[in-house]
Amino acid sequence: MKIYKTYLLSLGIAGCLHLASCSTQNNQNTETMTVNNLAQASQDVHSYSKPKEAVAKHLDLDITVDFEKKILSGTATYQIKNLTKTNQIIFDTRGLKIEKVLLDEDTKETTFKLGNDDKVLGQPMFVDIKPETKTVTIHYSTTPEAAALQWLSPQQTAGKKHPFLFTQSQAILARTWIPIQDSPGIRITYSASVKVPKELMAVMSAENPKEKNETGEYKFLMQKAIPSYLMALSVGDLVFRPIGEQTGIYAEPATIEAAAYEFAEMDKMLVAAEKLYGKYRWNRYDLLVLPPSFPFGGMENPRLTFVTPTVLAKDRSLTSLIAHELAHSWSGNLVTNATWEDFWLNEGFTVYFERRIMEELYGKDYADMLEVLGYQDLQHTLDDLGRNSEDTRLKLELDGRDPDEGLTDIAYEKGNAYLVHIERAVGRDKFDAFLNKYFQTFAFGTTTTDRFLDFLNSELIKGDEKLAEQINADAWIYSAGLPEEHYTPASSLFAKVEETSQAWQQGTPAAQLNTKDWSSHEWLHFIRLLPEQMSQQKMADLDKAFNFTNSGNSEILAAWFLHAIRNNYITADQAMEIFLTSVGRRKFLVPIYKALIATPEGKKKALAIYAKARPNYHAVSTVTLDEMLK
Ligand code: BES
Ligand code: ZN
Repeated sequence: MKIYKTYLLSLGIAGCLHLASCSTQNNQNTETMTVNNLAQASQDVHSYSKPKEAVAKHLDLDITVDFEKKILSGTATYQIKNLTKTNQIIFDTRGLKIEKVLLDEDTKETTFKLGNDDKVLGQPMFVDIKPETKTVTIHYSTTPEAAALQWLSPQQTAGKKHPFLFTQSQAILARTWIPIQDSPGIRITYSASVKVPKELMAVMSAENPKEKNETGEYKFLMQKAIPSYLMALSVGDLVFRPIGEQTGIYAEPATIEAAAYEFAEMDKMLVAAEKLYGKYRWNRYDLLVLPPSFPFGGMENPRLTFVTPTVLAKDRSLTSLIAHELAHSWSGNLVTNATWEDFWLNEGFTVYFERRIMEELYGKDYADMLEVLGYQDLQHTLDDLGRNSEDTRLKLELDGRDPDEGLTDIAYEKGNAYLVHIERAVGRDKFDAFLNKYFQTFAFGTTTTDRFLDFLNSELIKGDEKLAEQINADAWIYSAGLPEEHYTPASSLFAKVEETSQAWQQGTPAAQLNTKDWSSHEWLHFIRLLPEQMSQQKMADLDKAFNFTNSGNSEILAAWFLHAIRNNYITADQAMEIFLTSVGRRKFLVPIYKALIATPEGKKKALAIYAKARPNYHAVSTVTLDEMLK
């Protein structure tokens, strides 16, 4: 299968199997059937660019943010390297309006053409250049439909007075707001100048301002080379609050206080992370707390993690998410998966690293709870996808598919389980030394499953056949399901929760249960353990004692609503509707809507709520939900 595909690619026909851009791709590939071309053709199936021929090295972005028209417009100027002295450079675009393109100091426009439009990949943009061309300046604008961008009305913000904008570029949405070589295997440095309405402030995945200025024009610099999916911009009524020397938080004024309390330990996390896997290479580490429509929990934009306000639980109980995004400063941002087929190298490593940070800070009992919850998620995902599904392999095959489809909990939790498995085989000290060296060796570069395995062989296995067998890369990486010989995590704190749960199921009233000092994790475990079928009276007993329906904790709410739906506990309806119309985090939305549509009455309810809620969701979430609810 693999060989067949590569062969087709070398003939330049592979694009036709699934992309609308056959004709253009054909011409491209048949023109220059070099070894280079072949090698890179199999590299990233989600980018049209050919970095081995002509590659962008630095971007100067100069854009204006127009909230009225919901567009960005301006120029993207690239410094390029024309490696093969070709007469064309290719960028990825999706839904962009390209006005004109200039080369170097020329005042005369160069010619360019846009290839056929693919729904997922967008259009390749072929720019005619000369062998000696050094810079390419693209004049362009976005459209209001740009999938990376969410434009929020004042009503959708915490302060209710000013509009808000944020981007979400991962996995392949950077091309919807910048013409760019949109592959994680390509790194650029960048500078940017962004004009915004005077009462607002702009921040990026770069060196950031600490306060608003009079002009409404903000300058940014990112001097370390980053992949395109880490390009990020947000504009809103923002203030900054320092936490430590090197860390701080951006948020709306209405949110900053709560955020500063919740994330007060972010500086300690940075210290713990450095102690584990070496120096933090990005200088500052700040957070940006977004409005609740942000479709993810967090996004590891370099120097400025974007984070959902749904982790503001008022008790610092959901901060492992910050440890996760911080860990990406090593696994992902420093050492980057070369393509989305190796996504587990970003997320699996990050989950492992995240739990190590949490263990450093809060001890093994705490980390064990996270490990067990993650293991439950893994089992759930395996059941969902089917244990024979190819999407349960760590190494994915995403050719012809939206990368988003393959980016499941498998990469996170099976990826982590594999690293835990290796750690247990070689011992923690050796494994830590290995990871340290891995991050240093591949810093500011890319990694692939093969590269990781080579490194594992040369640094850890070193010809030890028994160890190689134990590490069993074939089973873990290239086979579906979960190998028998995995570690099954256990938590002593959860054992107590299980006892409590038993007592309740055997008739002890909820109000008499011993739930003292339970963290969110214990509550979540308790709720997950509840029977599928419960009487109204049982539901009410729980709700009266623990007030789940009105919990201020998003994880608890989202888990509780699933039971409320299954058991037709309509007392929770109003709270659920409020949750679904204000929160846009896909991880919460998908299971709730899924539970709703399981019955005809539920489906009616779901459609009615979705009609109201959809305008509040980011495209990342509506793409998934439109499909589910059609
Ligand atoms: N990088 C991911 C988010 C992402 C993945 C965006 C794939 C687009 C495509 C981020 O680091 C992440 O994993 N976020 C998680 C939280 C984490 C604690 C597991 C999320 O948003 O739920
Ligand atoms: Zn992540």
